[in-house]
Amino acid sequence: INTIGVLTSGGDAPGMNAAIRAVVRTAISKGMNVKGIQRGYAGLLNEEIVDMNSRSVSEIIQRGGTILYTARCEEFRTEEGQARGAEMCRKHGIDGLVVIGGDGSYRGAGKLAEHGINTVGLPGTIDLDIACTDYTIGFDTAVNTAMEAIDKIRDTSTSHERCSIIEVMGRNAGYIALWCGIANGAEDILLPERYDCNEQTIINHIIEHRKNGKKHHIIINAEGIGHSTSMAKRIEAATGIETRASILGYMQRGGMPSCKDRVYASIMGAKAVELLAEGKSNRVVGWRGGEFVDYDLYEALAMQKDICEEEYAI
Ligand code: F6P
Repeated sequence: INTIGVLTSGGDAPGMNAAIRAVVRTAISKGMNVKGIQRGYAGLLNEEIVDMNSRSVSEIIQRGGTILYTARCEEFRTEEGQARGAEMCRKHGIDGLVVIGGDGSYRGAGKLAEHGINTVGLPGTIDLDIACTDYTIGFDTAVNTAMEAIDKIRDTSTSHERCSIIEVMGRNAGYIALWCGIANGAEDILLPERYDCNEQTIINHIIEHRKNGKKHHIIINAEGIGHSTSMAKRIEAATGIETRASILGYMQRGGMPSCKDRVYASIMGAKAVELLAEGKSNRVVGWRGGEFVDYDLYEALAMQKDICEEEYAI
């Protein structure tokens, strides 16, 4: 490999910058050139491609977001877009590409590999919803951010003796909700993977807790279930207990990455370059069974994981 390209794609995640930094510096240490592709696959198609050196990634390990910007790109879902993406790589001399993103971004990387560009995917998403790995870049920071926010909501919820529904991100996956639910000692955790839409169970739970002297009732609701505001109204009407909804939103995606996200993202970034240097392609890096591993991209996409077995991942 002569020139490595690196891009971030999909929702940003704290720790992406640490991964970019590790890719750039590992590649340079191996005598390769590095090009940063801005705005994900959209930037690849628009030739938003910049040369990177060691200094391009100074002072970024502690910063949230992604210095390369990110985007979701409809055009890259088409065969024509994918062929043009590979052409752009060739035009700019990029013969190895590191894609940092979620499942959708992996699919794009697979298509580029089919067109002859060596690709490696790194799991970058706060959602932890990539089956081949028990760790994704950004999840640790996001759950810590959400956990701190929920602690604050609990203070005011207790003072007012209210019920609070707090909605956390995660798209269709409940990992952020599950981890916050445990870390914040929530009374109820609603996971899209398990939710049976039976609000009566929750209502009974709240009434029972109140009878037992509890001053608050914290419900962590996952984005994949949603409807927190209307749920709060229904719960208040049924229980007579003041109920408020808080949707944490994008604050969960920002901020200074945690130590774990910086370190794991750095190791994964270096590993991606090592795989490319060994001539490997169509691989994705993960964390499984206490070690960093890599899988064939399509095998990884076909894997499934069960949130109910999450204890094994912890
Ligand atoms: O994948 C990360 C994530 O923040 C999800 O939790 C959420 O569903 C989605 O991205 C929001 O995406 P957008 O930034 O396009 O609104």
